[in-house]
Amino acid sequence: MHVGALNPISSLLLKCRNPMTNQNSTEGRTLFEARRLGHVNLFVHDIDRSVNFYRDVVGLGVAWRRTNMRTGFLSNGNSHHDIGLIDLHGPLGQTNHAALNHLAFEVETQVDLVDGYRRAKSQGFRFTAMYDHEISHSLYYDDADGTQIEIYADTDVDWQERLVNPIKASLDKWEPGKQPPSPERYYRQNPVFMRHDDAIFHPTKVTHAALFVRDLEVASKDYQRTLGLSPTLGTVKDGFISLAGSCGNRDLTLLQADQNHPAGLSHFGFEAWSEDDLRQSVARARSADVAIESELRDEHRYSVIFPDPDGFRVQIYVDRKPLEAVVSLPRSSLTHLV
Ligand SMILES: [Fe+2]
Repeated sequence: MHVGALNPISSLLLKCRNPMTNQNSTEGRTLFEARRLGHVNLFVHDIDRSVNFYRDVVGLGVAWRRTNMRTGFLSNGNSHHDIGLIDLHGPLGQTNHAALNHLAFEVETQVDLVDGYRRAKSQGFRFTAMYDHEISHSLYYDDADGTQIEIYADTDVDWQERLVNPIKASLDKWEPGKQPPSPERYYRQNPVFMRHDDAIFHPTKVTHAALFVRDLEVASKDYQRTLGLSPTLGTVKDGFISLAGSCGNRDLTLLQADQNHPAGLSHFGFEAWSEDDLRQSVARARSADVAIESELRDEHRYSVIFPDPDGFRVQIYVDRKPLEAVVSLPRSSLTHLV
């Protein structure tokens, strides 16, 4: 493993819209203003198998594990974890099949998290859980299709220091506002990405997820109102809508579910280190019998999708040119672009 140069994309983190700009206007105010997708959390059948896959094939570092809880958390430095894995047969298991546990969206500060909580409660919004994860405080709710969404803000920029002493094993309840919330921005503004040369792929960070939803219009409005995401591409007529957090990236794409695509997770995507690197990774993947499901090389993006051990679809890509308008493509190709 070695630590590489800053990826140009990281500079985008410094250009995020200030979420406090509409502070004085409550009319039309969203509940929260998410800056980005922070991580994807999955229930998996075999925690060791999945941790090894995301380390050795996908190319993420193991940030920490709690073997007694049968969980694993992996990242290359963008945040404390890009992927969270929970063994569905362990003490935290909640399903009898592999499934998305939640998508987590980050807000700027603890103040924003608590303000959003109070705004939401005043409007009768229902949260399903609130936890103190020690390195972050988190609120949870279910979206219109029953997909669990986490909204969180970090509590300490030096989260790695906390890992010297294992993060507490229990999930402590959090009471928003009981302690005065901090106005500090604890996320890393210029993360230095780790690169694991021995792995097949070399991603920098998770950048987006895509969900099939039963009612695209309803879901899009809900995500705009709740998380403050902004529609950036696609319409109901197009069958998909991409939504951006305040950092301006397409963090979440909603796709209209149909007979062949029930509501639920479509895929999640990681940005690769470079195009040359991704090309070499794909060749290595093929010779290592990694089952590449599909591949797209067009003017906008070079992208591959392959299944993880539980069938979750992992995308790794490099952008070539910004996608600024809807292009007419079959859904299989469109999946690679959103
Ligand atoms: Fe989470």
